Amino acid sequence: MIAVIPAAGMGTRFLPATKAMPKEMLPVLDKPVIQYVVEEALDSGVSEVVIVNSRAKREIEEHFSADEALVESLRAAGKDTYADAVERAGSLSVSYVYQDEPLGLGDAIRCAAERAAGESFLVLLGDVIVTDSSVVRRLAEVSAEHGGASVVAVFEVPGDEISRYGVIGGEPMGDGVWKVDRLVEKPAKEEAPSNLAIFGRYLLSNKVMELLQVARPGAGGEIQLTDAIDGALTAEEVYAVVIDPRVGHDTGTVAAWLETNVRLALDDPRYADSIRKALGD
Ligand code: UTP
Repeated sequence: MIAVIPAAGMGTRFLPATKAMPKEMLPVLDKPVIQYVVEEALDSGVSEVVIVNSRAKREIEEHFSADEALVESLRAAGKDTYADAVERAGSLSVSYVYQDEPLGLGDAIRCAAERAAGESFLVLLGDVIVTDSSVVRRLAEVSAEHGGASVVAVFEVPGDEISRYGVIGGEPMGDGVWKVDRLVEKPAKEEAPSNLAIFGRYLLSNKVMELLQVARPGAGGEIQLTDAIDGALTAEEVYAVVIDPRVGHDTGTVAAWLETNVRLALDDPRYADSIRKALGD
């Protein structure tokens, strides 16, 4: 199964930092966000990682290209740890498709239709880090238990934040799995069908890709992935898996990115002491 990583958005909420640099290339600790996402995909055993890029964002492709001259000069200077890190980034196996205009997440995903080749596929948002590759495996497990159904990862969100997300409605089936009966993108708080919001990881059937081919703009004038998954419900089942919020880290806004850096730094022995000191703990 291929993994599609959309990374062609505008990053508007992070301007001006994203004026000349893609949001997905912002560092979290010592790596760009999208490297965590690619590593998660490869760790969860996908056959291929396809990044949906914008032609303007050359930095992403440069990051995942080999740079032998840099590696050699780092080794010559005895900086092997850095040389290893540069070598690793250049050795991760990724390929690209292009979205000409940022018309929304659904449009980005349909740019990878040919690569998905009529099969189910994974979507990992390029600005969301999940520090546990078993989340994607769990989506695959639940999908297999239900005849190849689409499965989305969700997490609990406080009421006043729910209208920022795609939200599911449905019935709990036990073991953190829900059978979904509707999905709504950015509902008003009083219309949200639950407090469970989609969190950046999806396993989607070919039916969803077919619906994306003919999708029309939804909330915010964008082609919405959530609407296509909701549309698939007339033909097939959709499930959701509730994830532990401690393994999910958004980086799409300044506040979320800051929080993600602090949370990951506190979990990392290289930085934990200095960050605790800086926070006055
Ligand atoms: P976001 O909605 O978080 O990204 O999409 P954005 O549109 O860049 O953000 P703002 O609203 O302008 O601040 C989640 C992921 O989907 C990609 C983004 O790059 C991000 O990784 N995306 C979004 C696309 O590839 N194309 C799009 O048209 C929209």
